[in-house]
Amino acid sequence: MFRCIFSEGKIYKNLLNGQWVDSRSGKRDRILSPTDGTLVGEVPASTPEEADAFVKGAAEAQRSWAKIPVNERAAILHKAAEVLDREKEVLAEVLVCEIAKNKKSSLSEVARTVDLIHFTAEEGKRITGESLSSGAFPGFHETKLSIANRVPLGVVLAIAPFNYPINLAASKIAPALVAGNTVVFKPPTQGSVSALYLGRVFCEAGLPPGVMNVITGQGRSIGDYLVAHPLVNMVAFTGSSKVGKHIASLTGMKPLLLELGGKDAAIVLEDADLDLAAQLIVAGAFSFSGQRCTAVKRILVMESVADELIGHILPLVKALTVGRPENNADITTLISKEAADFVQELIEDAVRKGAKLLMGNKRDKNLIYPTLFDKVTVDMRIAWEEPFGPVLPILRVKTLDEAVKITNDSEYGLQASVFSKNIDAVFGVASRLEVGTIQVNGKTERGPDHFPFVGVKSSGMGTQGIRYSIEAMSRTKTIVLNFS
Ligand code: NAP
Ligand code: G3H
Repeated sequence: MFRCIFSEGKIYKNLLNGQWVDSRSGKRDRILSPTDGTLVGEVPASTPEEADAFVKGAAEAQRSWAKIPVNERAAILHKAAEVLDREKEVLAEVLVCEIAKNKKSSLSEVARTVDLIHFTAEEGKRITGESLSSGAFPGFHETKLSIANRVPLGVVLAIAPFNYPINLAASKIAPALVAGNTVVFKPPTQGSVSALYLGRVFCEAGLPPGVMNVITGQGRSIGDYLVAHPLVNMVAFTGSSKVGKHIASLTGMKPLLLELGGKDAAIVLEDADLDLAAQLIVAGAFSFSGQRCTAVKRILVMESVADELIGHILPLVKALTVGRPENNADITTLISKEAADFVQELIEDAVRKGAKLLMGNKRDKNLIYPTLFDKVTVDMRIAWEEPFGPVLPILRVKTLDEAVKITNDSEYGLQASVFSKNIDAVFGVASRLEVGTIQVNGKTERGPDHFPFVGVKSSGMGTQGIRYSIEAMSRTKTIVLNFS
């Protein structure tokens, strides 16, 4: 069982310089289960005035943390991964209650995070600098030697989204720490309880006070203050494109890592294995009820195979179970009423404009049943907007050029899938798509977590992925030896 005390019953506290503290104002946010409205916990509703101490504490701790040898920093991360592994059932239960992620996916989020932290600890030890001799440059002799090393940035502000409060927090925290930074972690409000458990994991692993401070509170009330704080040296953010762009407008010359929204297309060519494509598309579109940035959010299928593809897809969507996360239902309640209202709005727009409803368009409070549309056209909002819900539109295309154009006309550019047995066609299409990653005969997805993960256009800035994140959270510092 956990050894650090961080809550009294369902009243949770923030982590400040090694102490678990309540909000000074005594104000709290009540976190209710999206499934049935029961109380998951109450967390401090911090104010900007309180936030200052979390940043200052992290800045103060950074000087000594950076001096600790990387193998000792890595050992603490390994320990954190072990504690997380030991507590995976507890953490998964919290995810089930707090974000309505089903039990299997919640366990897999935690297990994946255990692996991510271990891998990051090892990768951190392998980050090295390089030496360059002046003799390689025209006009220079061997009179200078550049020794370039990587040093930490300082304080990294980590902001995570509701859909992966553990994994997309650890994917920022672990690389930041191993690189010698300290962290201020601002969790999603719906996800705060899970995030505070993660804080407790790192606390038990032996992080010195201040090396990771966790502050809860509404993004709209403390977010701007934190990102613009002069002692925050870098912001690593995952969330909506709207908030990501807003953060970028406030941060001036601070380095940013932004992982934002997506409208990933699955492009299905005439010669694709349609059975395989259907299975991967349905898994990619509907896992966690479509609340993933990398969910397949539209199908672009060649007209000549569209009916056959639908013949494979429809039974799979019909087989999805709808219900409670603890029962491992495939489709569970969306995160909030606002989220469900938005999805319903997109569905109604498609119906009004003449899309062919193959199944769905059924709602029970915030539970949206899996919805599949055929004959979606480019004048419909569902062709372009990110529902973040269980809705899959099919657009029939006549040519590859049309598929590429519709994919690229999106404001987003996260991932795309191409299904085909023709490797030439696959590379031809892939080279023309304006996205960060193309999955060939696979569903769109971020993992494994050491792969580079990058969004272009409104989908992001910078590259996430274990080594890439460590590099983004450190900078080159050079010493030049001059000799004769
Ligand atoms: P969100 O509303 O943008 O919130 C993300 C985080 O930002 C939350 O912690 C939120 O805190 C915080 N925040 C809100 N306003 C802020 C501000 N002014 N300054 C600083 N932080 C602020 O996104 P979400 O609803 O959690 O997640 C859904 C969106 O994220 C979708 O668009 C999805 O595609 C995207 N997403 C992208 C990726 C990726 O890797 N590309 C991964 C997951 C999600 P509060 O909760 O307190 O508001
Ligand atoms: O929601 C956005 C996440 O980065 C998606 O991660 O593809 O592993 O589900 P995932």
